[in-house]
Amino acid sequence: MDLSPDDLAPRDRYKLLIGCIVPRPIAFVSTISLDGRTNLAPFSFFNGVGSDPMTLLFCPANRVDGGEKDTLRNCKPRMEGGTGEFVVCAAVEGYAREVALAAEPLPFGESEFELTGLDTASSRRVRAPRVARSPWAFECQTLQVVRTNPGAPLGGNVVIGRVVHVHLDDALIDERLHVDPERLRAVGRMGGIGYVTTRDRYEMPLGLAALERERPFERE
Ligand SMILES: Cc1cc2nc3c(=O)[nH]c(=O)nc-3n(C[C@H](O)[C@H](O)[C@H](O)COP(=O)(O)O)c2cc1C
Repeated sequence: MDLSPDDLAPRDRYKLLIGCIVPRPIAFVSTISLDGRTNLAPFSFFNGVGSDPMTLLFCPANRVDGGEKDTLRNCKPRMEGGTGEFVVCAAVEGYAREVALAAEPLPFGESEFELTGLDTASSRRVRAPRVARSPWAFECQTLQVVRTNPGAPLGGNVVIGRVVHVHLDDALIDERLHVDPERLRAVGRMGGIGYVTTRDRYEMPLGLAALERERPFERE
């Protein structure tokens, strides 16, 4: 089958993006409004950008009425009316249900910390708190928001943040800062309402060295 995005409704384009681009990591993003009200929401259009400076991105789409989701309203740069700050926390098995629960579209100012019962812990360099149970947290200052269709329903927004502080559970890492995936127990998002764990893993060296290993799967 061949498809042109122009012939598809935005909902169907969305279905293809989330069904094909899998598995996706989940940013559990904490923000605070200018008047001090906390907010927490998951975003799986999320990834690292680069390590010098340490940067990451996540993508809160516009709401169906074209408005900004609370997270974007809070974390957009100060000159655009936001706080210019956010904290990305982990999505892990221990509170996987709360991650999904926090996607409830509460009215602006009502906190998903209260809804989920997840405790906050204070951050060091930004005002937004972090999820106390999160095994890692990246405190970020917003560098830029790229809007792909401002004001349009489901239009995309890329929030690019500079990591200004890192919290790590000591039990998660070794002395060389290697993160133990077995202890992390991250969960990721698939299409629809599907999720994956990260319990089934394999190792493969990069480039030509990969030829020296067995194929990890029988059926290719
Ligand atoms: C696991 C998961 C991943 C999600 N990823 C995204 C995403 O990448 N972009 C997005 O706009 N909404 C995403 N959502 C939906 C938002 O979490 C939801 O719209 C939420 O209400 C936004 O909260 P806010 O208005 O407090 O920012 C996701 C929901 C879940 C459960």
